[in-house]
Order: sequence, then C-alpha cells, then structure tokens
Amino acid sequence: MAKNSSAPHIPIMVDEVLSCLKDAHLEVFFDGTLGAGGHARAILEAHPEIKRYIGCDKDPEALEIARKNLEPWADKLELVQGDFSRLDEHLKKLKVRSVDGFFLTWECHRCN
Ligand SMILES: C[S@@+](CC[C@H](N)C(=O)[O-])C[C@H]1O[C@@H](n2cnc3c(N)ncnc32)[C@H](O)[C@@H]1O
Repeated sequence: MAKNSSAPHIPIMVDEVLSCLKDAHLEVFFDGTLGAGGHARAILEAHPEIKRYIGCDKDPEALEIARKNLEPWADKLELVQGDFSRLDEHLKKLKVRSVDGFFLTWECHRCN
C-alpha cells in the first residue's frame, strides 16, 4: 500500500461481490484484506444490518487509509493488523464466536 498510497484504489468486481452477498443477513462480517476499504464501503452501504465489520490487513498503512475512508461507519469498524490466516486468533481476541460472512481479495502478480 505504501508505494501507491497517494493513488486512489479502485476496488474490483464490486457488483459481483454484492451479488454474492445479496440474500445474506450479515451482522458480523470479516474482511481479511481490507486494503483502502473500497469493498468494505460497498458492503457496509448495501448491508446496514451489519453491527461489527472486522477489517484485517497486514499493512498498518492500509488500515490507516481505510480508517479514514470508512469514517461514516466508525462505530461498526474494528481494525486488526495481522495475517488473515490467523483468523481464529483475531476473532478470539475480539470475543467473536462466529461470523455471518467473510471476504478476501488477492492481487495476481503473474497477471500484472
Ligand atoms: C487488493 S488489496 C485489497 C483491496 C481492498 N479490498 C479494497 O477494497 O481496497 C490487498 C490487500 O490485502 C492485504 N493482504 C495481502 N495478504 C494479506 C494477508 N495474508 N493477511 C492480511 N492482509 C493481507 C494487502 O496488504 C493489501 O492491503
């Protein structure tokens, strides 16, 4: 995130993501690759029932950018710095027993 932090980040396939989640009732959501929070914004707008949006990223700079971008949802947002593969550990610390949905995005470096 650091090298491109001044460039706007455009989240990809937002309509597809929202379509996958459209019939779900989401109260607790885990976003394992929060980045700048573009997908998070779209999911939070589409699902006002969300009570806890847990945004995880290994990059502390990304988390700071997301915190600013997701200011309107500050009361729902819980930021975790770390690897999403340690999901169990992160949720345990937050006293979350289960989530209603989760989301991950990857960049494919072979395609860039
Ligand atoms: C393509 S960006 C995410 C885009 C984001 N969904 C958005 O809308 O802005 C990928 C992010 O995943 C993070 N990331 C990559 N591998 C990770 C891992 N194993 N655990 C946590 N975060 C990871 C990177 O630091 C980067 O911020």
